[in-house]
Amino acid sequence: MRLVLRLALSAVLLTTLSSAQVVPPNLPPGPMILLNSAQYPTVTDHHCLAVSCSFINTNGMIRDNSTTSRTSASRRRRAIGCDGVTNCHTSLTGTSCDEIFYASTYSGGLGCYAANYIANGGVLGNLPPLGTHRCVAAADNSAHGGAVNRWYVNNRIPDGGVFYFSFLIPANGCMNAASSYCRRMFNVANGYVGDSYGQICSDGLADGRQFAGITTSQRTQHPRCPSRGYGPANITGTDDDSQSDDSEDDEDLVGDMSLVPGPAPSLTDHVYKLSSQRFIWSPFRSNVTLAVGDMIMVPVNDTSTDSDVEEEETVVAAGRFQDVVGTDSLPDCPT
Ligand SMILES: *[C@@H]1O[C@H](CO)[C@@H](O)[C@H](O)[C@H]1NC(C)=O
Ligand SMILES: *[C@@H]1O[C@H](CO)[C@@H](O)[C@H](O)[C@H]1NC(C)=O
Ligand SMILES: *[C@@H]1O[C@H](CO)[C@@H](O)[C@H](O)[C@H]1NC(C)=O
Ligand SMILES: *[C@@H]1O[C@H](CO)[C@@H](O)[C@H](O)[C@H]1NC(C)=O
Repeated sequence: MRLVLRLALSAVLLTTLSSAQVVPPNLPPGPMILLNSAQYPTVTDHHCLAVSCSFINTNGMIRDNSTTSRTSASRRRRAIGCDGVTNCHTSLTGTSCDEIFYASTYSGGLGCYAANYIANGGVLGNLPPLGTHRCVAAADNSAHGGAVNRWYVNNRIPDGGVFYFSFLIPANGCMNAASSYCRRMFNVANGYVGDSYGQICSDGLADGRQFAGITTSQRTQHPRCPSRGYGPANITGTDDDSQSDDSEDDEDLVGDMSLVPGPAPSLTDHVYKLSSQRFIWSPFRSNVTLAVGDMIMVPVNDTSTDSDVEEEETVVAAGRFQDVVGTDSLPDCPT
């Protein structure tokens, strides 16, 4: 499937520039944040859909902890379609708009707000010009947001710091049943042939909650993307264009930004087993560095949304999931 993404333009400027396939940024090693499907299953699922659909093709992100990070975060939300009046209609549906890559990273918002990163020697090519937004359970969205912010602080992730996401998998080998796309993705990664990443992706796009790769909300017109040369750079007002229909000027817009997702994912079946018998799965062959004997902070309670409690665990085994669980049977988590 080729999905052409474009920044919203006025009809006058409907010109398409180059179409480019997104190659994975070449990021250095870094720590990983564990996604807990029990605490925020719909947000965990969003990550799995973003991976399955190749709207992201690395699990690495670069934190923005600069002095303008708050403003930039809201502009990144706008760039990915999660600001102003969004597809999620939060007040009507109770779902809220979740963005990947995270708005708190330079990788978020299609890399549009990267001035501070570049000023510090960062390379724009390390920021994926692709992302996705999805309407998730509002409680999940805030639970995940809280977990990410705590993790930044506890792990002292600096401005420009690279980190990776990975999945916490319960001892039975199955992510939370409400993270059904993740269950399917893990099954396929472990060799289950009755499903495919392509099928998972198209099911996720068909459920009406995924607006993958759309570079601006259907209702938030005229994005601005200074780092990538789509101007003008300045956003004024509340960043909510719901009132303005087409009254905003498109002068200075350089042109369309047309992108296709990266190649179909090739996900590893390697996991790390923890002393609690749970597992960590880092789906890409990324620069996450864990080895047997390493200590890692893990949410202690799989179900509490008061997820402040973490404990140190040891990596007791690492390798293919089937080998680590000591059986040839696949996890085969029902969905
Ligand atoms: C990991 O980091 C090194 C440099 O630190 C880089 O050469 C390599 O391509 C990175 N990515 C992967 C997926 O290994
Ligand atoms: C992030 O920024 C805040 C506010 O400037 C600062 O207090 C904190 O120390 C920074 N964190 C790191 C890890 O640099
Ligand atoms: C953007 O804002 C800066 C500073 O506020 C100003 O100097 C510049 O002229 C503005 N650019 C546009 C295109 O409005
Ligand atoms: C986890 O948290 C839930 C909800 O707060 C609680 O009911 C449960 O007993 C906790 N489980 C453990 C093992 O502490």
